[in-house]
Amino acid sequence: MSRTIIRGGTIATAEGCFAADVVCADGRIVEIGTGQVAGDGDDELSADGKFVLPGGIDVHTHFSEPFMGTVTADDFTTGGEGAICGGVTTHIDFAFQYRGESLQDAVTNWHALADGKAVIDYGLHVAITELTDEVRRQIPEMVAAGYSSFKIFMTYPALVVGDQDLLEILGLVSESGGRVSVHAENFAISAALIEQYVREGKLEPRWHAPSRPWVSEWEATVRAMALARVADAPLYVVHMSAAAGIDAVAEARTQGHPVIGETCIHYLVFTEDVYEQEGFEPARYICSPPIRSREHQDALWTALRTGSLQVVGSDHAPFTLAERKRLGGDNFSTIPNGVAGIEEIRPFLWSEGVKKGRLSVERFVALTATNPARAFGLWPRKGGVVVGGDADLVIWDPDKRTMFSMETTHSACDYCLYEGLEAEGAATTTLSRGDIVWHDSVLNAPPGRGQFVKRTTAEHV
Ligand code: URP
Ligand code: ZN
Ligand code: ZN
Repeated sequence: MSRTIIRGGTIATAEGCFAADVVCADGRIVEIGTGQVAGDGDDELSADGKFVLPGGIDVHTHFSEPFMGTVTADDFTTGGEGAICGGVTTHIDFAFQYRGESLQDAVTNWHALADGKAVIDYGLHVAITELTDEVRRQIPEMVAAGYSSFKIFMTYPALVVGDQDLLEILGLVSESGGRVSVHAENFAISAALIEQYVREGKLEPRWHAPSRPWVSEWEATVRAMALARVADAPLYVVHMSAAAGIDAVAEARTQGHPVIGETCIHYLVFTEDVYEQEGFEPARYICSPPIRSREHQDALWTALRTGSLQVVGSDHAPFTLAERKRLGGDNFSTIPNGVAGIEEIRPFLWSEGVKKGRLSVERFVALTATNPARAFGLWPRKGGVVVGGDADLVIWDPDKRTMFSMETTHSACDYCLYEGLEAEGAATTTLSRGDIVWHDSVLNAPPGRGQFVKRTTAEHV
């Protein structure tokens, strides 16, 4: 059996960094040590002067997702290609149970989107939008089948689930060993503010941000945590952007409640002044929660460093400018919400975090690989550099600079959110289950090679 030996690098894990070679065979890591002797047919990769990282795990993606009258621009091929180039080797997407459907319908529909297209391994969270008796029965079946996490939206008219149903879902999922994630924003606050701004003729894209104030996110986060406490359930709060919400999560964790907070790379790179640009330009940055002030951003960095936030995801949900214009050219509230980020998470977290002394290398690995793997039942198969684990590995050049633009991005979106921004730190080689899918700027990941990963039960991090 031929092997791949990665030589001369510094292996970085969530626990520490050390010099060693990594030997991969049959899609797995088979040995970690020094002085490995290559045999006939073995491949050798040099990681001299570089880090060897576990492949990134992005637990928050929306590929080919119908939303707000359109569909996200990246599918399981283009989204996965961006992931590979950014050093991400596994993602968890959302399979939506739309009203009138069963949970089985949801996963069947999402497997159809991924089949023959996925280029990296993926899991599926099941997004519940309607609690029926069939759904109650199916929750434990889903967990047993490897869909061990669920998503609830506390906002968006087409998706919102009320508190009583959320409470029941938290209990059912927890009893089954799964985890519920919430999009925490107060539905009434944004609905009322949108109505007010539209009535006042405030229709330009820049009004999106004030229609979703930090207090709305804080209130819903606290409410979700209260419901999870009553249900004795673990909780995961996605895309946190506001200081007060993070403080509330930190306090709950101190009190022993198993809640995990995620932020996303766009909240760490941009600040609210992006909404002050001329004309329709602010539409590029429309996502929910919106991009916030420098004070909130500073609080995110502190929380990532101190452990109050545990995961950085992408919330990769790009919508083209053409679609933003078509759907919301005359009213900000109908512009589809979401931005790209799967290719950018690691380069920008490294550049803004590790390079600027805000994060250690170990913390970077924890936030982008090990913690998400543990929280969503992928560990120890994925998320670490572990003998017996999948050979999902990245040779990471800590100093390589990349200028992001439409020329470099692998996204199918018609604009690059990070256009003209440079990141320091890049994946020079990416291995997925031992296959070299990215090396020296050449992508080699045929559509369909990505596999669905069944996940086990939730672990607190
Ligand atoms: O604006 C966002 N975040 N769009 C994607 C859907 C969601 O809410 O996560
Ligand atoms: Zn959301
Ligand atoms: Zn999302």
